[in-house]
Amino acid sequence: MTTAINWDELKRLASEVRQHAHAPYSQFRVGAALQAGGKTFVGCNVENASYPVGLCAERSALAAAIAAGCRDLEALVIAADRPITPCGMCRQALSEFTDELPIVMISDSLEAHATLSQIFPDPFEIG
Ligand code: THU
Repeated sequence: MTTAINWDELKRLASEVRQHAHAPYSQFRVGAALQAGGKTFVGCNVENASYPVGLCAERSALAAAIAAGCRDLEALVIAADRPITPCGMCRQALSEFTDELPIVMISDSLEAHATLSQIFPDPFEIG
């Protein structure tokens, strides 16, 4: 069953968690709020001195949702300096669980909309 989506709350949470981003190398802070199974999970980017170790905000939120047993992804908000789409790795990660995820990308003053299937129509699958 799909729960109603409170976009305003997801936007608030994505902007809030963005403040916790650890981005000393890129200075590019990202926050994500993911609604899954009727609950909300947040994540921020967590960079590392060994650059490839860094984690994106979207996969951070996704891991929290999956760890909580909430696999029914319903809505994603990404907050950054400007509206950004998820990187390719995050698109593939999200597509493991859904293909019709509505995504809202925000900055302080701008907003853009997409669905995962629009921006990642052909994910890799085994079998
Ligand atoms: N980043 C995200 O967290 N999400 C994205 O969709 C794109 C990029 C992070 C990774 C890195 O910490 C910083 O933004 C600059 O690439």
